[in-house]
Amino acid sequence: MTVTREDTGRRAAFPPGFVWGVATAAYQIEGAAAEDGRGPSVWDTFSRVPGATARGESGDVACDHYHRWPQDLDLLTGLGVGAYRFSVAWPRVLPEGRGRVNRRGLDFYRRLADALRERGISPFVTLYHWDLPQALEDAGGWRDRDTALYFADYAALVQEAIGHTEPHWITLNEPYCSSIVGYAEGRHAPGAREGHGALAAAHHLLLGHGLAAARLRERGSAREPIGITLNMSPAVPGGDGPADVAAARRLDLLVNRQFTEPLLAGRYPEDLAEVFGPISDLSFHRDGDLEVISAPLDFLGVNYYYRLHAVAAPYAEPDPARRAACDIGVRTVDPDGARTSGLGWVVEPQGLRDTLTGLAARYPGLPPVHVTENGYGDRGELDDQGRIAYLGDHLAAAAGALADGVDVRGYFCWSLMDNFEWARGYDARFGLVHVDYATQERTPKASYRWFREYIREPRRNAVS
Ligand code: FCB
Repeated sequence: MTVTREDTGRRAAFPPGFVWGVATAAYQIEGAAAEDGRGPSVWDTFSRVPGATARGESGDVACDHYHRWPQDLDLLTGLGVGAYRFSVAWPRVLPEGRGRVNRRGLDFYRRLADALRERGISPFVTLYHWDLPQALEDAGGWRDRDTALYFADYAALVQEAIGHTEPHWITLNEPYCSSIVGYAEGRHAPGAREGHGALAAAHHLLLGHGLAAARLRERGSAREPIGITLNMSPAVPGGDGPADVAAARRLDLLVNRQFTEPLLAGRYPEDLAEVFGPISDLSFHRDGDLEVISAPLDFLGVNYYYRLHAVAAPYAEPDPARRAACDIGVRTVDPDGARTSGLGWVVEPQGLRDTLTGLAARYPGLPPVHVTENGYGDRGELDDQGRIAYLGDHLAAAAGALADGVDVRGYFCWSLMDNFEWARGYDARFGLVHVDYATQERTPKASYRWFREYIREPRRNAVS
């Protein structure tokens, strides 16, 4: 599919200086899990638990990016992006999460960030994309307040090593997934199913963000903008009755407002105690935490994939004392006749526009926004028309939010290349570039060529 006249018109809706990029994450692409002094992370441990990931797959080798990164940077150059979002693996830098520093780990990221700058590509550096050092998990993980303090120390170390490349810093990727999916649903590392512990993890992640942001700001220059990335999924009622409306509100609390309210409004959500009171006394909240968490951001990262349609349902665990934090009396349903991705995820581009305009309406003074992830999963077709349609429609939605007055500054496609899709393993593919895992051969898909054309400067974007 070539870029159409309609696409060109939409492309023109993005202002000069708009940031175009692609995103990846360390554990999903690097491999080299036991090389050059890297310590184990919770994902190394979790992926070895029988049944935890599809076919028992892990990120041990992944895309072997740790060795092949120069070639992968060629793919970025070929694509013509101005920015690349990657993550730093905490256990490569601090094998035990704190204390002993592994210089070889820092050197890897320094070489990568320097090489990006040499190619004229801005680094967007995520400090935490889910790979907590296992030693910290053994000491309590994100349930424990100290983990937030160690995270800030780690952030300062990374800044010493690569701050000179003037990256955009993204403290955390999707704290909802690290806390609720990891400590309550048990679908992600560390695979726990807890109530109080998962809510404590959510709070300590936010605290870790705030402490790390303060440290980065203390040492960094104004040319190192600081933000955080949240996955936002509008939660809408899947039925007409008041019970479904209330269910959608609880789901919105769990997924969205639990994070946006402390970060962007300096308050806990008004219904937090009502919904979670029966399973936790919320005793991990301490005086002063909200001030740390809500310090102004330079930008907000938003990851958007789908909307959630909620209906009321019975609790899975009747006893609140034993109930996981995700067990809020809600079930999600797919709307009748929904368009779906190659993985069966509901496709609703309007949800991206609603997310962005909703944030701006709810939070006066919202910082500029980067869409730090958006993408389409399938089983790996090279002629990936489904992905092209998905990206085109979501870019149109982002353009719509701009037209509504939201200060959207950038868009990052997930992902540069196929990679280890967490619990789904390797057969769920999100890349603009196909990876043959047997040979590590990279092959650009039709969507790679489409995205390259789409993001070109309009004056060069001649369409007959
Ligand atoms: C997001 C994750 C990213 C990737 C995409 C498909 O939730 O941040 O690592 O797995 O989903």
